[in-house]
Amino acid sequence: MVENVTATKNTNETRKPLIPVELTEANWRFWSFVLLALIAIYLMTLYQVPVVQGLTDPFYSPTILVLPLVAGFRATCYAYRKDYHRHLFNHPNACNTDVRKDWKGRKYTGETRLFRIENYHRYFWYTAVAILPFFYYDLYIAFTYQAGQFTLSLGALLLVLNALWVTIYTFSCHYFRHATGGNIDCYSCPVNKKSVRRGFFNKISAINHHHEMFAWISLASFFLVDLFIRGVAAGLSINPILLSFKW
Ligand code: FES
Repeated sequence: MVENVTATKNTNETRKPLIPVELTEANWRFWSFVLLALIAIYLMTLYQVPVVQGLTDPFYSPTILVLPLVAGFRATCYAYRKDYHRHLFNHPNACNTDVRKDWKGRKYTGETRLFRIENYHRYFWYTAVAILPFFYYDLYIAFTYQAGQFTLSLGALLLVLNALWVTIYTFSCHYFRHATGGNIDCYSCPVNKKSVRRGFFNKISAINHHHEMFAWISLASFFLVDLFIRGVAAGLSINPILLSFKW
């Protein structure tokens, strides 16, 4: 009997389509979002921004070259997952068990079938870390584009902030928090209570607490810096020198 139940369950599992229903139904919110994203990527590829006054657009350094990895990292991030499951798919509306079914009475099926990719977030995290040095190299270019001079322009300052936001976003990740200390069973035990690892874990936990905020600020920062550099490239006088000295 138990075997029969298990067999039936397995058959039902295998019958489920690979593509989740959320990605196949006529959902204007989801499809208009996809359309906007595709148009944006197309336009970014078409109208690339040159390095101007030492400023490198973070979308091209090297984000657009590794777009699938960056998109994978952001799309599988817990902060965005919550938002697109709730606001694009409307499924589930909240985490409460009695509201996890959508308006058609279907159960929440995140992290199964094609959404299984959400489980690979930890691997995307390593690629996100590998990209970070490029943003800091761009700062070096921005500070030294005038030969023999250190130059801090408004655009360079925005690049500094952008690099910091992306760094904080990356290291406030839930996976990183788990990797730093989530696998310790007992932190109140004497051996772990004052350990360096626990101190580090506590610090990561503190920024992890605001991870969703960092996710949105870092994304908004990318767009604002992109717009700013496009303005400079178009000839607008919006990039004053804030500090400059010979070295
Ligand atoms: Fe958001 Fe990892 S959970 S970056």
